[in-house]
Amino acid sequence: MKIAMIGTGYVGLVSGVCFSDFGHDVVCVDKNPAKIEMLERGEVPIYEPGLDALMARNVEAGRLSFTTDLPKAVAGADAVFIAVGTPTRRGDGHADLSYVMAAAEEVARALTGYAVIVTKSTVPVGTNRKVKHVVAKANPEAEFDVASNPEFLREGAAIDDFMKPDRVVVGVQTERAAEVMAEIYRPLYLRDFPIVTTDLESAEMIKYAANAFLATKITFINEIAALCERVGADVKEVSKGMGLDGRIGNKFLHAGPGYGGSCFPKDTMALARIGQDHAAPQNIVETVIRVNDGIKVRMIEKLRDLCGGTFNGRTIAVLGVTFKPNTDDMRDAPSLTIVPALVGGGARVRVVDPQGRREGEALLPGVQWSDDPYKAVQNADLVVILTEWNEFRALDLKRMARKMATPRMADLRNVYSAKDVRKAGFEAYEAVGRGGLEPEETKLAAE
Ligand SMILES: NC(=O)c1ccc[n+]([C@@H]2O[C@H](COP(=O)([O-])OP(=O)(O)OC[C@H]3O[C@@H](n4cnc5c(N)ncnc54)[C@H](O)[C@@H]3O)[C@@H](O)[C@H]2O)c1
Repeated sequence: MKIAMIGTGYVGLVSGVCFSDFGHDVVCVDKNPAKIEMLERGEVPIYEPGLDALMARNVEAGRLSFTTDLPKAVAGADAVFIAVGTPTRRGDGHADLSYVMAAAEEVARALTGYAVIVTKSTVPVGTNRKVKHVVAKANPEAEFDVASNPEFLREGAAIDDFMKPDRVVVGVQTERAAEVMAEIYRPLYLRDFPIVTTDLESAEMIKYAANAFLATKITFINEIAALCERVGADVKEVSKGMGLDGRIGNKFLHAGPGYGGSCFPKDTMALARIGQDHAAPQNIVETVIRVNDGIKVRMIEKLRDLCGGTFNGRTIAVLGVTFKPNTDDMRDAPSLTIVPALVGGGARVRVVDPQGRREGEALLPGVQWSDDPYKAVQNADLVVILTEWNEFRALDLKRMARKMATPRMADLRNVYSAKDVRKAGFEAYEAVGRGGLEPEETKLAAE
């Protein structure tokens, strides 16, 4: 199959590289010339484990190339994937479809024969029909079908997710489009990965419903965590006990500082708007959005308490600012709410992140960047674990405590335990949903 991938961001690049690894001829298009120049030099513009090697292998094999020339890439393609951004539209929370529609128009004018135009971007129900209309209007002669093929990959594990998906969802209107899609995903069919072939609207809905459900699961455990702190329960134990129930499952059940990232915030918001537009309000999702915002505020209060009631004049080391480990993506990361609150409150903030600096420098003004957690905590009053990079999972806590002015830790990812941290010489420790442990133990000792 000959594939054109429009948009070479996180999803477009990973999908394009993986499709070429399936054996297809793939041309990745982006309108950002700097990105294409980088890719042509063999450099990967994002941090995603394993992507550089896979990309190099397929470029070498002559199956993968990059261009800014959309018409050239589209000419003769069997399938044209649209994988451009669908960010939150300013002001109203709807998904901004302007990039998708602009790409669809450009594709329409470049078609040279029958092709399936596949939307990989996350788009509201009805968008594929709109794409069909836009293409037909821009090029009344065009012979094409549309297909919806939402992407479920997770940043940080994107290649594995693409190559070994839980399922592939394909929404189509015609047999011909279904056949092209089946051919593209043949290597996955052969290995028995489930392929859900459905109508356009259901495919579009599956993506939003899945993301909203996962965001709900995270938010549920985060809210339970707040209650655990009050009643002296340990949310890690609660998650474990819940997650072993096969009906619930243990994934996305880790308490933390609230969900962020390039998808959940914008997709929950868009789903809430879609519900309102269709007089079917998504009350649960609307509540999840509100509760998640509150969780970040709760984290800021936790840090303020650890700093003795004020950030003013405190020195705080923040470990991890990307929205999760193994990515350099900072979009809607909890750090973008939490770190400015520290800086705004008068703290001197030092930040360490294995990959976040390139994006983070512009997004987190007023902080000092460091490559070394031990240097960052020198004379600090508080260390905050905000993203659980492996580098921060096995810190020498004794060494850290010795270097700090007041050894205090906010472990917003529950990486350590109060016991270990106390043993290492820390005088105060707060995690998420486990804070009740410490006073309880102290009380017991006093009794
Ligand atoms: N990032 C994820 O983990 C993820 C996972 C699943 C689904 N998605 C969805 O996939 C879509 C893309 O997300 P992303 O994170 O890859 O976005 P991104 O912002 O990283 O990349 C989009 C790219 O498209 C390019 N572009 C925009 N218009 C173009 C045009 N007309 N022609 C050529 N290139 C164009 C931009 O320059 C940019 O490089 C979104 O709808 C998102 O919701 C993302």
